[in-house]
Amino acid sequence: MNAFQPDFLWGGAIAANQAEGAFKEDGKGLSIADILPVGKHRFDNLNLEIQEDVYYPSHEAIDFYHTYRADIKLLAGMGLKCFRTSIAWSRIFPNGDDAVPNEAGLKFYDDLFDTLRFYDMEPIITISHFETPLNLVKAYGGWKNRKLIDFYEKYCEVIFKRYQGKVKYWMTFNEINHAHTLPFLAAAIVVKEDEHKLTDVYQASHNMLVASAKAVILSRTINPDFKIGCMLSLSPIYPASTKPNDVFSSYELRRRSLFYSDVQLRGQYPSYFDRIRKENEIELEIGDEDMALLKRGTCDYLGFSYYRSSLHEDGMRILGNTGGLMGKKNPYLKETKWGWPIDPIGLRYVCNELYDRYQKPLFIVENGLGARDELDPEGGIIDPERMQYLKDHVIMMNEAIRDGVEIWGYTWWGPIDIVSAGTGEMEKRYGFVYVDKQNDGRGDRKRLIKESYYYYKQIIESNGQKLDFAEFV
Ligand code: BG6
Repeated sequence: MNAFQPDFLWGGAIAANQAEGAFKEDGKGLSIADILPVGKHRFDNLNLEIQEDVYYPSHEAIDFYHTYRADIKLLAGMGLKCFRTSIAWSRIFPNGDDAVPNEAGLKFYDDLFDTLRFYDMEPIITISHFETPLNLVKAYGGWKNRKLIDFYEKYCEVIFKRYQGKVKYWMTFNEINHAHTLPFLAAAIVVKEDEHKLTDVYQASHNMLVASAKAVILSRTINPDFKIGCMLSLSPIYPASTKPNDVFSSYELRRRSLFYSDVQLRGQYPSYFDRIRKENEIELEIGDEDMALLKRGTCDYLGFSYYRSSLHEDGMRILGNTGGLMGKKNPYLKETKWGWPIDPIGLRYVCNELYDRYQKPLFIVENGLGARDELDPEGGIIDPERMQYLKDHVIMMNEAIRDGVEIWGYTWWGPIDIVSAGTGEMEKRYGFVYVDKQNDGRGDRKRLIKESYYYYKQIIESNGQKLDFAEFV
């Protein structure tokens, strides 16, 4: 039974720093993504200065800054109803704390949003997606510093006013709960694994939560029709055994993420946070008005990413937000080449969990399969693994809607190959469109259509009904 409403927003999602390149063009300043090299150790021993002999994938990425018109035209061929991307904060305020915005940066997004609208794609815009201006880390210590709240608010005011006639859907911070596991990307802070880590992470989180609330409040004064959401990484955590300790510890780990949506959707710190704060001796600097702002600035919807599930055991050292990096292997699930368990039922589970908790609309703003793609002798790419992944997740999304969950839309992560956030690789490909570029930057960046492109087109055309992909393999 098909449960997708006729105006369901099928789409694709990217982020500016993973696609645009042009890292210094038209007045853009450096962002935190611009000093990250390739490889899974890209966050170790961070060097905030650009080194001459190091290759930085964000500097050119897929050159979307120059190719967006052709790329969007190509993606429009699949019939996408919406397109999620981010505004690179450092194109608008190159240093983050500038007195006036950079007109050339603003103009770029005018043109980008006009192009999307021309192809009838609703822009879904992330205000900050792992690309805080680097100067805000160097001069202020990143989100640990309350001053960033004002810089962010000013940035929001500029973009809300400028794009109010072009953009309706916004999200304040990408995967805000990754402040714990990817503190540099998500919270622009450099943390050491010492006793102060949690204080730093929660202070940065508090400041971001207040900034998010202020953005929501401000947005309503500029255009009451805006829909403004929070965005979390919410792949579920299953207990690794039926041992009650494993079950409870998994629940606690889950709440470490849900803490963020609890604040952003319910408007207050959850009661369980008191104990976390006391037991870890976390001293937070909280402004007089902060709690009132959190109450007023709740989001309209919950955007989230879903890629996989993970297994957690009590006492396990937690690295990944989902416990995934150190998570136990789930013997019932296959994994991707990057070791991410493939779990479509997990998507149905999470949709139900989140809707039960908040009764707010959900938007699945990231889901996808990162895989290696090989060109066949005729130069084509047949990617049945990706089609299977897509099919299985669409089925479960349909089930979740039938379960009573309100879902506004689904944006496949990386409809065109882009740079991986986790590793900086190009060869971890999510796209329906291939980009000829390798991990070390080689390649002419030519675009090629993969077979999954036609499959997603069919899914969108049939509003999620025609799921057979035999004719594409
Ligand atoms: C999410 C991010 O964590 O996952 C994206 O919001 C990222 O920016 C995506 O690209 C997939 O992760 P990766 O490491 O495969 O790029």
